[in-house]
Amino acid sequence: MNPDAVKLIERLKDTGTLSPEEWVFLISGEDDELASFAAEGALKIRRQYFGNKVYVRGLIEFSNCCRNDCYYCGIRRSNKNAQRYRLNEEDILSCCREGYELGFRTFVLQSGEDPYFTDDKICRIVDRIKKAHPDCALTLSIGEKSRASYQAYFDAGAERYLLRHETADPVHYSLLHPAELSSENRKRCLYDLKDIGYQTGAGFMVGSPYQSAEQLAEDMIFLSELKPQMVGIGPFIPHKDTPFCDKPQGSLKQTLFMLSLIRLMLPDVLLPATTALGTIHPKGRELGILSGANVVMPNLSPVAVRKKYELYDNKICTGEESAECRTCLDKRIESIGYEIVTDRGDHPDFGR
Ligand code: 5AD
Ligand code: FES
Repeated sequence: MNPDAVKLIERLKDTGTLSPEEWVFLISGEDDELASFAAEGALKIRRQYFGNKVYVRGLIEFSNCCRNDCYYCGIRRSNKNAQRYRLNEEDILSCCREGYELGFRTFVLQSGEDPYFTDDKICRIVDRIKKAHPDCALTLSIGEKSRASYQAYFDAGAERYLLRHETADPVHYSLLHPAELSSENRKRCLYDLKDIGYQTGAGFMVGSPYQSAEQLAEDMIFLSELKPQMVGIGPFIPHKDTPFCDKPQGSLKQTLFMLSLIRLMLPDVLLPATTALGTIHPKGRELGILSGANVVMPNLSPVAVRKKYELYDNKICTGEESAECRTCLDKRIESIGYEIVTDRGDHPDFGR
């Protein structure tokens, strides 16, 4: 193993940061041995903070209508093959009810950027869910909004927000998105969310087109500055009806290595083993947990719409009922010596 890389991992643990050049060196120095070393360190830290607990979030994909046109995403507005849908308020509430019965204490409401769901509608939904399930945490993942909108959802009772920064490098950002979207606004949103008091999640795809170690280094530095409570990462997976249909998929090993490095840098972060990771390898989510992740986010959406929320090809769990995914995940997590808990799973800084 490269002794300089080992030293950098040790320093990352101690100081929580590295220089851009050091990040590039570490990220491009990945091999099996270094990855095992990083994973070992990550698991030790993970165990200190979270024992063998894995938190579970019920994901409700309530609309796949989107006004944006991101080049990588299967529900981009230009994809005429996407069958668009919206769940109504009652549908969403019944997903939560079913999820509650199954032991979920966090609901994540995710959608495309759908103008149909005005701030008033979102606030009403948040309010109804919080009144029906006062012991549950509510996470929104509905895209870029004004600070005033974020504040309104927060005041209505939403306490967490997921918005991946996608890439921290503005030039790289412009290669993944049309000109109307900017890295600058994306970051502004994240700082607003944190400032308002949300438990905030950022993140990026591993192996997105035009990404190299330099971009990943910038992503890590951005995370070290933002200090989000949650970080969502997963491999890029091409979708057949997007401009990136022919681009190569992100690598399993690099995604696992990045998960370990994130755990080493942000020891108490909430870090999911994502569905995308489970899509590129049959044991992807288990491997994610064994690399330092501590959250899983199974789908609670009605089976009738699941296939339609297709951000990338071959997404898993589109035919299974919520209860089936819950049981399946319990078994998977148990099989590697960990345990899914019925708990809101707040970030340690936000314990009630
Ligand atoms: N492959 C992997 N992840 C994707 N996302 C969107 N499209 C893809 C894709 N083709 C991710 C983005 C987004 C999150 C909801 O899903 O990072 O923020
Ligand atoms: Fe959905 Fe295994 S988690 S089938």
